[in-house]
Amino acid sequence: MAVDRLKVCAAILASGNGSNAENILRHARAYPSKISIPLLITNNPEAYVITRARNLGVPCEVIPRGSSKHMQEGRILKALVENGITHIFLAGYMQILGTQFIDAYPDRIINIHPSLLPAFPGRDAYGDAFNANVPESGVTLHYVDEGVDTGPIIAQKKFARLPDDTLETFRARGLQLEHEIYREYIDTLVRSEAA
Ligand code: GRF
Repeated sequence: MAVDRLKVCAAILASGNGSNAENILRHARAYPSKISIPLLITNNPEAYVITRARNLGVPCEVIPRGSSKHMQEGRILKALVENGITHIFLAGYMQILGTQFIDAYPDRIINIHPSLLPAFPGRDAYGDAFNANVPESGVTLHYVDEGVDTGPIIAQKKFARLPDDTLETFRARGLQLEHEIYREYIDTLVRSEAA
């Protein structure tokens, strides 16, 4: 049965526009027997990613933080376990994960960060890099640990800052690389985990 051959069963966690989430979902469809993504979770009831998930026919659960991060993460973990999730792809998920969460998926939580880590960790990396006038910036795919954007690096891609760049053009070029690096990661993952 096809399901038995699936080794990567991923969930996406996202908080906003969801371009990375859509990119991942579309790319994973190139490997229907090797990777499934049966669930998207957002902590933001207003997020456009909810619409993207619906358009792609992917179940989306909205689990806001509310008054207790511990309870929220417990609900998320329950949904992950119920769906047999093996890997978690963070795609613009704007919340730091707690220890119970990270311990449940050691080396299986991946994040995309829009800078060349360790430079410019934190919430506004494009803005911080742009305002620092760096000649080049980039994006980093990394495993998640308990720090803020400190986990082991999987891959990085660089782009030059152009003389006429605005923050918007700078960000847009970086976002294309975010999508590219996640696609390449999925290509590698399905080859190594689900051959
Ligand atoms: C991306 O730049 C991501 O790296 C950052 O937030 C942005 C999310 O974009 N953490 P999207 O929601 O995937 O379009």
